[in-house]
Amino acid sequence: MPKTSDTTINPTVIIIFGGNGDLTKRKIIPALYNLFVEKRLPEKFAIIGTSRTKFTDKQYRDSLLEGINEFSRTGTAKKEDWSQFSSNISYQAADIDDIDSYNAFELTITQLKEEWKQDASILYYCAVSPDFFCTIADNISKSKLGNNNKTSRIIIEKPFGRDLESARTLNAKLLTIFDEKQIYRIDHYLGKEVVQNVMAFRFANIIMEPLWNRTHIEHVQISVTEKIGVEERGSYFDNAGILRDMIQNHLLQLLCIVAMEPPVNFDADLVRDRKVDVLKAIRKIVPGMTDTLAVRGQYGSGWVEGKEVTGYREEIDVDPVSNTETYAAMKFNIDNWRWQGVPFYLRTGKRLSRSASYIVIQFREVPHNMFHNEELTLPKPNRLIISIQPDMGIKFQLESKTPGLEMVLNTVDMVFDYSEKTKKDAPEAYETLLLDVISGDQTLFMRADQVEAAWEVVMPVLDHWENNKMTNFPNYPANSWGPENADALIAKDGFHWINLPQKNKNS
Ligand code: BG6
Repeated sequence: MPKTSDTTINPTVIIIFGGNGDLTKRKIIPALYNLFVEKRLPEKFAIIGTSRTKFTDKQYRDSLLEGINEFSRTGTAKKEDWSQFSSNISYQAADIDDIDSYNAFELTITQLKEEWKQDASILYYCAVSPDFFCTIADNISKSKLGNNNKTSRIIIEKPFGRDLESARTLNAKLLTIFDEKQIYRIDHYLGKEVVQNVMAFRFANIIMEPLWNRTHIEHVQISVTEKIGVEERGSYFDNAGILRDMIQNHLLQLLCIVAMEPPVNFDADLVRDRKVDVLKAIRKIVPGMTDTLAVRGQYGSGWVEGKEVTGYREEIDVDPVSNTETYAAMKFNIDNWRWQGVPFYLRTGKRLSRSASYIVIQFREVPHNMFHNEELTLPKPNRLIISIQPDMGIKFQLESKTPGLEMVLNTVDMVFDYSEKTKKDAPEAYETLLLDVISGDQTLFMRADQVEAAWEVVMPVLDHWENNKMTNFPNYPANSWGPENADALIAKDGFHWINLPQKNKNS
């Protein structure tokens, strides 16, 4: 007997274009497998992997099993679970450009529906290079698959365009074939457990809202730092750079979640409307201001954990005189009632000292020092630290009296820490996101106007950087905190970057 699962969700067929790719093995299949084990997949489902290479079903399944064993958060697959799960997986070699391949999918789907005696939702997962998104969409609509807007959905991975113009073109093209309600543009940061919790933390606690504004908050920092370099992705990354790869999507989405107004309810469009409001309120970076508001860097060689690592320009598939940035730090101003005068600083980079993603909300000082401590300085202002990974938790830093005969103040932490067990059990972003696509919930996906608004925000900097090459690249060594001018960007406003102490050995 197959493990029964969610009977309330329609039978589902998932066709994965790029079925033999890295993303499929590392993320998509392990996520679907874990959903299956948790009994969250529909009772009747089929996964069809496709790429140009020819495989038998058995060869294909074996390679996916290796992926699960290596990358799934739950570790090695259990024999019985795998055997039940994999009986729903098949492989069909296909040429993305060839209509006949799509007609062959249609035949398989028809057979499945006959077998299931039920209609099914069809998900087209584009885990391929963006160059193929339009071809796939076009061929779906031209082939016998057609495009039934009641049952089909298309999942698009990032990067969604390489600039505002290409994103608009891609949106326009997709929207001639699919309705917005059928398009699921992925930004995997939105599926992360702690990122989703920010909404709960802000909007399910009465004490947060009165503090969450310019009266009490001095500035906000969003850091996504990575220890790894570009690894095997040199050719993609050298054409993109970190502003496109991370800031246009992940970091700006984090900013939106911190800065958004409360939506009326959790309806996908209402939530996304409020995020778009934030992007629209970000002050446009005008020519002449770019260097004041944005800083870039590129890593040189260095030492990481006793091993010498190469500089960016020596990485595989990277231009030896590349001007691509591997680090970016930016300051954003949000022109609305809530945030006027509160700067948001964003930074991200590769080959930095530590891997960590976190948000710091820095509160203002108290207006008066009534404690007359020796230094006559004001008590330290409060700080809220939201750790997304590898540590997961929310920490409030408060001032408190140090036990003893004198009134001496000290900073203490009020910590909400996800336990080790919760961390292990927390679903991976792709599990959350895939389940949402299967059940038709678009809240955590990027809407067309949202992607375009995010491109609009970064375009002036992209253009400026494109037209003005850096002469001092590489300008930070591997295993450092990035270029010096990133410190200057924030120091000129009287602040400094907050680096979290290392707690987790993976960071
Ligand atoms: C991807 C970027 O979107 O996010 C990568 O393309 C980056 O360059 C990755 O390494 C980071 O994601 P995570 O989940 O590991 O923080």
